Amino acid sequence: MPEVLQLDGRHIVLGLSGGIACYKAAELARELVKAGASVQVVMTEAAAAFVTPVTMQALSGRAVYTSQWDARQSDNMPHIHLTRDADALIVAPASADFIAKLAHGLADDLLSLLCLARPAERCPLLVAPAMNREMWAHPATQRNVERLRDDGALVLGPAAGDQACGEIGDGRMLEADELRDEVIAALQPKLLAGRRVLVTAGPTFEAIDPVRGITNLSSGKMGFAVARAAQEAGADVTLVCGPVHLPTPRHVRRIDVASAQQMHDTVLPLAAVQHVFVATAAVADWRPASYAQRKIKKDGSHSAPALELAENPDILAAVARLPQRPYCVGFAAETNDLAANARAKLQRKNVPLIVGNIGPSTFGRDDNTLLLVDARGERQLPAADKLTLARQLVREISQRLEALA
Ligand code: C5P
Repeated sequence: MPEVLQLDGRHIVLGLSGGIACYKAAELARELVKAGASVQVVMTEAAAAFVTPVTMQALSGRAVYTSQWDARQSDNMPHIHLTRDADALIVAPASADFIAKLAHGLADDLLSLLCLARPAERCPLLVAPAMNREMWAHPATQRNVERLRDDGALVLGPAAGDQACGEIGDGRMLEADELRDEVIAALQPKLLAGRRVLVTAGPTFEAIDPVRGITNLSSGKMGFAVARAAQEAGADVTLVCGPVHLPTPRHVRRIDVASAQQMHDTVLPLAAVQHVFVATAAVADWRPASYAQRKIKKDGSHSAPALELAENPDILAAVARLPQRPYCVGFAAETNDLAANARAKLQRKNVPLIVGNIGPSTFGRDDNTLLLVDARGERQLPAADKLTLARQLVREISQRLEALA
């Protein structure tokens, strides 16, 4: 399946104010273009002292604007025209001085004019601060940032760490890939705004002895995609996952566990305060009845040790039994008879929605096909990458929540 371009068809205005982080803005322009966006770069005079318009033009594939008096716009109104077809305006880096300007509505150069003149209801403003830690911590900057937030801007970061000035602290601009993901997230509809969503993901690991255990081939990718999609849709997301090798989606609270019992003990106290629970984890049905404190050794008799199993708690069913239960969504990973098995699970676990998929053809892969089964019937979500499917699932869940309200 070809890679999905997350910003395909989107037009982004990338503004640079002055700061050493301008070198990262060059990388950001590349990331946005690689993700499918068309990118219009606008630079302040100070930004052009750090990285040249020629560099930004080469990376974005478009002539850069630096001046309000640019003769390319015959009516001299680049501050109007440049944002009218934009899906988002991101200022990266945003210097302390530029943030102060925005906070006060000053507009004495093209970029600040553009921020003020953008159509605010359809072109979100994202601001990525980058400055020395003392400048960031200064009450004047903090006041200005707060005012920007109040005015509806999305403030991205900053991160903490080594600074170009040699100091260490808050004020580093986020990395280009992080900023790209923030732009992608900002463009998703906020279908779960104000909702709390709990997701389980990945396999569990049921230890036999200190070096061995029972697990399965779940990669966690579907659950991580659901967590990301829910977060992008505005939800407050907690992700409880078994052993996986995946980066945590941005702004998602992640809790790592190993066994089904640990997952159960982590999920249950959290579940009652959630609006939605999505159980994508491939929880081991059984665990070794006892745990050997030392590695079980071959004893030369050629007879294998007997492995007695005990049943694990069913986390989804336990959450569905809570008096204050969230809207529960289960997954069914089957090898055959998907619809019938998913429907049986709907009843057995007493949940309103089961999402069926064929385990062996999806475990570890980046794409999947989902079958939604609920009391009303069935709905197929055709083959797509897991993030696309997760966004569709989020939409389906939000529609069901609205129908319940
Ligand atoms: O019982 P079965 O494994 O077929 O059901 C799958 C669904 O139940 C998935 O949503 C899975 O995350 C959840 N489950 C669970 N705890 C278990 C077993 C499955 O939450 N012990």
